[in-house]
Amino acid sequence: MADEHPAGAVPVLTIDGPSGSGKGTISRRVAETLGWHYLDSGALYRAVGLAAGWSDIDLSDASALVRCTFDTRIAFRGDGHAEPRVIVNGTDATDEIRTETAGAAASAIAAIAEVRAALRDRQRAFRQAPGLVADGRDMGTVIFPDAHPKVFLTASADERAERRYKQLKDKGVSVTLAGLLREILARDARDANRAVAPLRPAPDAVCIDTTGLGIDAVVERVLALLPARQGQGF
Ligand code: DC
Repeated sequence: MADEHPAGAVPVLTIDGPSGSGKGTISRRVAETLGWHYLDSGALYRAVGLAAGWSDIDLSDASALVRCTFDTRIAFRGDGHAEPRVIVNGTDATDEIRTETAGAAASAIAAIAEVRAALRDRQRAFRQAPGLVADGRDMGTVIFPDAHPKVFLTASADERAERRYKQLKDKGVSVTLAGLLREILARDARDANRAVAPLRPAPDAVCIDTTGLGIDAVVERVLALLPARQGQGF
């Protein structure tokens, strides 16, 4: 395991983990604190899933989905503070990509190796100075294998379902906790058991269980892993 990036390489900190582990919030906060760029790789899969739906592409038609992946234009717009807007083929799809339908489509297309390959270079293009915080499922294992540090966030399925329940309730979406738990367990199983890039920690990842931990505590633990910050306490 490398303790630092090769000389001259733009540093990358990867944060992988299952849905509801708090990756998005933690990654954005860490990126903001460091003044680094932020890659929400799940948003790319969700955007392609959504675009496939807009074009009525069957989720079992792998070659049409691969074409759709190449054809879909995805842009992130933000001021680096709030959650960035996600523009898909010119349309602001920030809210639509967060729906359960888009999430399920994303999970289905994410199992196709050619779709993953088609998104690989797009993800690597986010690696720009002064640094990148990359959030996803395979950031540390496949997309940025030389990243340091690599973090793998987990939380119990019950807590992840509760967090999601609160988020959706706040947005006025009507859901049941039991239904969300079922969906989370099904999504976990699909993401962990797929043949390509299954969800698992990189061998050199630091695993942090966020069950019962607040956002600030997790952000601090992640920042403390950066070589330049070790022993500083902040
Ligand atoms: O993190 P998320 O819930 O927004 O991700 C949506 C789906 O995309 C999820 O089911 C798995 C897939 N995904 C992936 O396979 N690889 C990534 N790097 C990010 C997301």
